[in-house]
Amino acid sequence: MADTPKITFDSVRSFFPHTDNMTYFNAASVGPFSSLVRGAITEHVDMRVAAEKDDSHIAFGTADELRKIFGKLIGARHREIGLGQNTTFGLNLAAYGLPLKPGDEVLLSDIEFPAAVYTFKAAAKARGLKIKYVKSTDRRFDVDAFEKAISKKSRVLVLSYVQFFNGYKNDLKTIGEICKKHRMFFVVDGIQGMGTEPLNVRSLGIDIFASGCQKWMLSPQGCGFFYVADELREKIIPPFMSWVGADWHLKFTDLFYYDKPYFDSARRFEMGYYAVLNIIGMRAAVRMFQDLGIANIRKHDHALIDRLAEYIRNHPYYRITCNMTAGHRSSIFTFTCKDLVDLHKELLRRRIILVRREGSIRVSVHLYNNDTDVDRLIQALEDFGRNH
Ligand SMILES: Cc1ncc(COP(=O)(O)O)c(C=O)c1O
Repeated sequence: MADTPKITFDSVRSFFPHTDNMTYFNAASVGPFSSLVRGAITEHVDMRVAAEKDDSHIAFGTADELRKIFGKLIGARHREIGLGQNTTFGLNLAAYGLPLKPGDEVLLSDIEFPAAVYTFKAAAKARGLKIKYVKSTDRRFDVDAFEKAISKKSRVLVLSYVQFFNGYKNDLKTIGEICKKHRMFFVVDGIQGMGTEPLNVRSLGIDIFASGCQKWMLSPQGCGFFYVADELREKIIPPFMSWVGADWHLKFTDLFYYDKPYFDSARRFEMGYYAVLNIIGMRAAVRMFQDLGIANIRKHDHALIDRLAEYIRNHPYYRITCNMTAGHRSSIFTFTCKDLVDLHKELLRRRIILVRREGSIRVSVHLYNNDTDVDRLIQALEDFGRNH
């Protein structure tokens, strides 16, 4: 893989066979596989079918590489990164592992994706914590309402980087500073921004960052990672740990040692042996993000969204429902109109793949999209708008 040419925005679409048959605007639900992912997984499956060699060194090596890559992508040290199966894994690490005591408050947005809510509700019950919802304003996390909601008992804020239904990107810098001022842990569900919105977890004051990679990171379902700030690691005591969290120095010939130290890194929290096919697929997928750069991906996505937004803004039948200001927009664009369900059906009929969320059409624009995709969508909207 290392000697193949660097992927550029001119070449990237050719790695996505689906682009020949449809217009895909649905990475916020699930990302399509590239031919690189398919190739890497297929090759590995063939190797396992042949059963000629043990793949554990490939698995450990791939996991090592991925921790380093994710560290670079989010501005963390690689020892602050661990691999998990999804976003929920990292959220559970926070919910059950953070040093909290009965009566402590966990603040959540009242428009948060359910992943954080159900995880922290269960942890609250088990640990005697209190959940407090911060009231949103105009379907966005309201920073002033958050500050007002903080009490002496508030110890944690859990928040999405980008909101799943309208693409609103939270101002993590300001929010992180407020958390720091009030000595609160800052836990971020990053999945809807990871891969399209650059971030630096350390400069944002994030304590735990969790992201699945099955959406914008274009990896198999069952892939994800988490960040635990160095300063926090020793304070996190989750009710679950595993043998791969102990430092065996990769010597598995003699396993009757029960006094190995846990890794001096976030790897200590990883849960048992790897889903090897998944991490092989994820390694192939992340290459695009290394080659293109997340800031460039954002630029690409936003330029396509700008064209679509311009059309919608000037059409009396449609209305933009997402925030388009520089600090709060993302690669999720949403709009609405009167006959939304019919419009959605018509778009699907034309093989324009996207979803309805909370009264809007959600358009997820990503690195494989191009002007032709936007033209197809605009043409479909034009035809539908003419008859409605
Ligand atoms: C904000 C957000 N968090 C989490 C998830 C999913 O969580 P997990 O990766 O644990 O399945 C989604 C979407 O499925 C989401 O939009």
